[in-house]
Amino acid sequence: MKERLLDRPLTVGRYTLANRVVFQPMEGCDCEEDGRPSALTREKYMRAARSGAGLIWFEANAVCPEGRTNVRQMMLTEDNLDAFRSLLCEMRAAAVAEGFPAPVMLLQLTHSGRQSIRPMIAYRHPIYEEKRPVTEDMTVTDAYLDTLPALYGRSAALAIAAGFDGVDVKSCHGYLLQELLSAFTREGKYGGDFENRTRLYLACVRAAREAMPGEALLTARLGVSDMVRKPYGFGTDETGALDLTEPDLLIGRLIEAGVRILNVTVGNPYYNPHINRPYRGGAYAPPEPAEEGLLRFALVEKHIKERFSDLTVVGSGLSYYRETLIERSEELLREGACDLVGYGRVTLAYPDFYKDSLAGRFNPKKCCTACSKCTVLMRRGLVSGCAVFNEYYKNLLKESKK
Ligand SMILES: Cc1cc2nc3c(=O)[nH]c(=O)nc-3n(C[C@H](O)[C@H](O)[C@H](O)COP(=O)(O)O)c2cc1C
Ligand code: SF4
Repeated sequence: MKERLLDRPLTVGRYTLANRVVFQPMEGCDCEEDGRPSALTREKYMRAARSGAGLIWFEANAVCPEGRTNVRQMMLTEDNLDAFRSLLCEMRAAAVAEGFPAPVMLLQLTHSGRQSIRPMIAYRHPIYEEKRPVTEDMTVTDAYLDTLPALYGRSAALAIAAGFDGVDVKSCHGYLLQELLSAFTREGKYGGDFENRTRLYLACVRAAREAMPGEALLTARLGVSDMVRKPYGFGTDETGALDLTEPDLLIGRLIEAGVRILNVTVGNPYYNPHINRPYRGGAYAPPEPAEEGLLRFALVEKHIKERFSDLTVVGSGLSYYRETLIERSEELLREGACDLVGYGRVTLAYPDFYKDSLAGRFNPKKCCTACSKCTVLMRRGLVSGCAVFNEYYKNLLKESKK
């Protein structure tokens, strides 16, 4: 087989990733109520471990109970640490048994903010509130926000104790730390100018850094732009067009705070899902062709890579490519748009896609169709997985329609 960039190892700090394949964070809403992985959660991660991926990015893990989107969201605590530790050990062993080096593993830390079971909003947002109404008393106080860096620090320390190689301090997809980035209209120290709007995010990033040993990986999944117009969006102008002035400034600060890997994402899946994960079919007809959205991803990633050449950049939004998945991944790496290629929905549909491509038996027919049924399951309050290629989730979706 011709030498592929996808198969080349990459060293970040003291870690060497076996290849450029990243399993993106994919929330399954399937943990036990105390936040530990359930049998379903474990099954998904064991499949990931056997896939040959160099980096497995664990899904959104709440830093506190009130910051969960649902009662089955992942939440690592002192009480369930051992369950995570044993899963990670089994995953490393499974990768080695398949003939692959053990993957690097990261935990994504989050507070769901507006999407929490009881919404906790940064400010009144006329656009988002058309979809999910809220009341004034749901606005989080500065005093509450002041408590969050310590919670991110605690979760980061727990992640290391459980055996993760590092954490991601997530700010994307409209959750609390992302919403604050656009809190132009909020009063007080967390709203208004750039310094105030980024204050809490950077404090949480620094708290995570301080809570982990120096060699542990500090990373960020950043919604570089939510593609919502200013003053209700980040990384946009008043018309809603992309404006990367503030994202560039923020990325510079994240690097100063110790972030080594930036997992780039764009859009808000609750408001403009066609931007975040281009689809076929789905809830509404997208106002732009999927190809346009996919080019936006590449453009943003390239822009970041050109300005911050030492930063390791993960590209997103690849599943739509289906039969050309591997070719497109190679192109992105060759063009220097990203250093690592992140795969989301395709990991649910066809977890062995990378292993099969190595063996010369990549099967486009098994690839994700970008139908978004996995999101439909989630929005119906069910556990999420591939409702096209996995019989369990397929039946679940069928049953939920009755
Ligand atoms: C069911 C589902 C769950 C997701 N969970 C997360 C998550 O926990 N954290 C996150 O940052 N992104 C999450 N995402 C977004 C994906 O990581 C990814 O960015 C998106 O699906 C686009 O990539 P793709 O085209 O390869 O699917 C989720 C997406 C889906 C469809
Ligand atoms: S349900 Fe399966 S095929 Fe459809 S988007 Fe989700 S992962 Fe892809």
